[in-house]
Amino acid sequence: MPIKSIVKSTGGYLPEKILTNQDLEKMVDTTDEWITQRSGIKSRHIAADDQTTADLAISAGRAAFEASGLAPSDIDGVIVATTTPDQTFPSVAVKVQAALEIPAGLAFDVQAVCSGFVYALATADNFIRCGQARRILVIGAEKLSSIVDWNDRTTCVLFADGAGAIIFEGQEGADDISARGIHSTHLYADGRLRDLLYTNGGTSSTRTAGHIVMQGREVFKYAVSFMADVVNEALEENNITADQVDWLVPHQANIRILEATAKKLGLSMDKVVMTVDHHGNTSAASIPLALHEAAADGRIKQGDLLLLEAMGGGLTWGSALVRF
Ligand code: ACO
Repeated sequence: MPIKSIVKSTGGYLPEKILTNQDLEKMVDTTDEWITQRSGIKSRHIAADDQTTADLAISAGRAAFEASGLAPSDIDGVIVATTTPDQTFPSVAVKVQAALEIPAGLAFDVQAVCSGFVYALATADNFIRCGQARRILVIGAEKLSSIVDWNDRTTCVLFADGAGAIIFEGQEGADDISARGIHSTHLYADGRLRDLLYTNGGTSSTRTAGHIVMQGREVFKYAVSFMADVVNEALEENNITADQVDWLVPHQANIRILEATAKKLGLSMDKVVMTVDHHGNTSAASIPLALHEAAADGRIKQGDLLLLEAMGGGLTWGSALVRF
């Protein structure tokens, strides 16, 4: 029987501070009505000044770890998806590894912006299925508030902070869609579209992290089309139809993108996990946070078939079909 990467446990962490649309009305020329109508976001969490991405990642990782019942020595590796590392190096992953007292093994960060978690999950799955690791802690963590230009109303109302974590474990499973675990992953990038969403700085160019710059309308257009394509690819590869999917767990960028993707698939919105209204866009953290929230409140149950999908700067995009 083939090895499948199954979800052993999940965890999440959101910073204490909540920033509402009403708070933003006092900071930039915007309204609760505009933000709600264009994005679906009502509030978001913002990390404290002295809280780093690694702090968020460690909290989420610890939650997943405690829920797993495993010992630190049971974990073979840590992969963190982030665009906002504490330092240029070392990676956030090695800080998580040290904080959770996980012994020496693979640990590195993956950078694919909002698609980062799907990229990290696919990487972990490949390590597990080829037998190089048995259990990998995969985390999406972001302190996007540190690269947001708080004077730019076109972006500062969208982005937020948080972290989500999943421990994947290799287990033998049936060679069909009934088995628990990751069934397929699909990753893409098209660097010709890199100027639609970027930071206007970086270590080797300006020696600063820079701020997020986005051509929102253009990104929106590509998001709807790429997400629908990559989701359909996952369905086709596994010979299933959309009605067999229990939950769509999309990157939480914008409610209108979620609705458009669900509509293209013929899925009703009550099969879409939605957290963008109270999480905002937490980039690489959004999928594991959404998945953790829905698993913790009982919406997602063991055995449910999940379709994960994301799109972000690069442009990058991807999907994964996972039986929870
Ligand atoms: N408050 C009030 N008005 C605003 C605000 C604001 N916060 N921001 C922009 N506006 C104004 C604009 O100036 C513009 O005014 P004008 O018509 O007088 O020029 C008007 O609102 C419309 O602006 P658009 O940008 O065309 O608005 P749109 O309907 O496209 O919504 C949004 C903007 C929400 C950004 C949307 O385009 C979007 O969600 N895009 C995709 C974002 C995304 O998915 N990103 C991918 C992942 S993120 C990552 O990878 C890091």
